[in-house]
Formats: sequence, structure tokens, C-alpha cells
Amino acid sequence: MNALVEKINTLKKEKNAVILAHCYQNIEVDEVADFVGDSLYLSQKAKETNADIIVFAGVSFMAETAKLLSPNKKVLLPRLESGCFMADMIDVKSLKEFKSLHPNIPAVCYVNSTAAIKAECDVCCTSSNAVNVVKNLGAKEVLFLPDTYLGKWVEKQLENVNVITYNGFCPTHLRLIPEDIEKSRIEFPNSKILAHPECHHKVSELADFVGSTKDIMDYVKNTDFKQYTIATEKGVFDRLVRDYPKKSFHLLKDTLVCQNMKWNNLDDIYNSLMREEHEIILDKNTQEKAMACINKMFEITCVNSKK
Ligand code: 13P
Ligand code: SF4
Repeated sequence: MNALVEKINTLKKEKNAVILAHCYQNIEVDEVADFVGDSLYLSQKAKETNADIIVFAGVSFMAETAKLLSPNKKVLLPRLESGCFMADMIDVKSLKEFKSLHPNIPAVCYVNSTAAIKAECDVCCTSSNAVNVVKNLGAKEVLFLPDTYLGKWVEKQLENVNVITYNGFCPTHLRLIPEDIEKSRIEFPNSKILAHPECHHKVSELADFVGSTKDIMDYVKNTDFKQYTIATEKGVFDRLVRDYPKKSFHLLKDTLVCQNMKWNNLDDIYNSLMREEHEIILDKNTQEKAMACINKMFEITCVNSKK
């Protein structure tokens, strides 16, 4: 075993710490992670853990979500640079403006948002449960933020719900354009194209399957095709290549990399755990209001530990 991996594992035991890693992380992080998965899975693990310290190998809104779900735990984000461009596209002032343009309509926020934004919304969702959350709200109209493409994709999956979206987006997924799919179809005509709903709707419409990180991974696990083309972040592709050696994978574009997700390496994780930095601190008021928004997500989808 790599010496650094051993050192991290020893520290984890000494400090009763757990490491949660998103599937977009550099794959070497999996060597020390206790749980690897998508936003929903990791938030469930953060909620359930008995550890004293959670090291979140992901971006800042994910570490904040872990803190909201485990307020008495110390939650650490190894690199302060790990923000999310989409989450930063909305602040409280612009959210209030958006809400005032559409009064008395419930606001659904994608988990890719800061705790301050969650504190001002009615319910949260992840890409894995967005359709379920909006459906179970039972409203004819909802506000959806910050991601316009996920919001519009949710609207398409449901009948009779008008989803009014904020104009945020993910710069990583928006690197894909319809021509990328058309070219890939010519090059790999038998490959199934799997896209994340953060992609532009013109890209999603051309894909064979659209789903969250977990849905994409489950699709590969549960189907028997020989080739798959991955239209989401490279970390998903890297893990599929590792986990399914008998299947063949293409990454739709080699720029499908979220730079903010790639800051962490094993050194950062070691330093973070050793120095117990950078701790997520939230003020009490934000904590309480944002927690209510997340708890509502678990409540209305009737899940606590499973999707
Ligand atoms: P998941 O909800 O699929 O984990 O995605 C998180 C994310 O940041 C996608 O860009
Ligand atoms: Fe944010 Fe996009 Fe990166 Fe996901 S892939 S963390 S939405 S910038």
C-alpha cells in the first residue's frame, strides 16, 4: 500500500474520521475514501455517520450540506479553491429578485447552491431526486434554481408542472454542443450516449439516456451493451473504465472536466485531516433555515438512507 494512503488511514482511525468523495474527484482519492458517490448518496452518508470528523472531498456546497446534516461534527474541505461555478451564479439578492418576480410560488433549490440560498428556499433536491421532489410538492408551478437545464429537464419529465427556472448553468456540462453528439454517433454508431441533465437541452435531447451521476452508473451496471459514451464529468468515465473492464467507454469530449473538483489529491486530504482544516462554519440562523430546506427533501421523497 502507498505510504501516504497508510498515513491517511492511520489518521482516520486516530481521529475517528470519515472521508466522503464525490465521483468527480481525482480517482486516486477513492483509495482513502470510505464512501464514493453522487451528491444524494454522500449527503445520506453525512447524515448517518458516527464519525467525529467528516473530510469532504468534493466542492464547498457539498461540504456545507454535510455540515447542515451533521451540525455537531467537524466538517473539513481540503482545498478552499473548490467552489462550484453554478452555485456561485446566484446570491441572496438575486434570489430575492427572482422570487419577487414570481410571488407565492414554492422555490426548489438544487443542492448545488450555498447554505445561504438554501436558507431562503422551500425545498432542496439533487439531480437524483429532482423529479421526485418537484412531483411530490404537488404544486402546479415551482421556481427552480440555480440550474436552468436541470429545471427544464424536470419539467419535461412531469405532466402539468410549470417549472420557472433561474438562469444558472454548469460551465462544465455546457461545454457540450449538439455537434459533439452527432460526431460521436458517426464515430461510434453502436455506443449508447449517456448524459447528465445539467447538459444543454439540445444535447440531452440527442442522448440515449439522461440521468444523474448515480442513474448513469446504474444504467451501465444494469445493461449489457458493449460501448457507452459518457456525456458528463470525466470522473464518472474514469470510474466506469475502472469498474467495468469488459465494457468499453468513450468520454464525449476531453474537456469534460470540472477543475474545481480536481483540486484535491492525497496530500491535500492528508494535510486537511492532520491540521483539521478548512472547517465549515455556518451561522446558527442560516444553519437552521437551510437544514429545514434539506430535511424537507428527505421528508417529501420519503427516503432516509436509500434513494
Ligand atoms: P450529482 O448530483 O449527480 O452528484 O451531480 C453533482 C454535480 O455537481 C453535477 O455537476
Ligand atoms: Fe458545479 Fe458544474 Fe463542477 Fe458540478 S460540474 S461542481 S455543477 S461547476
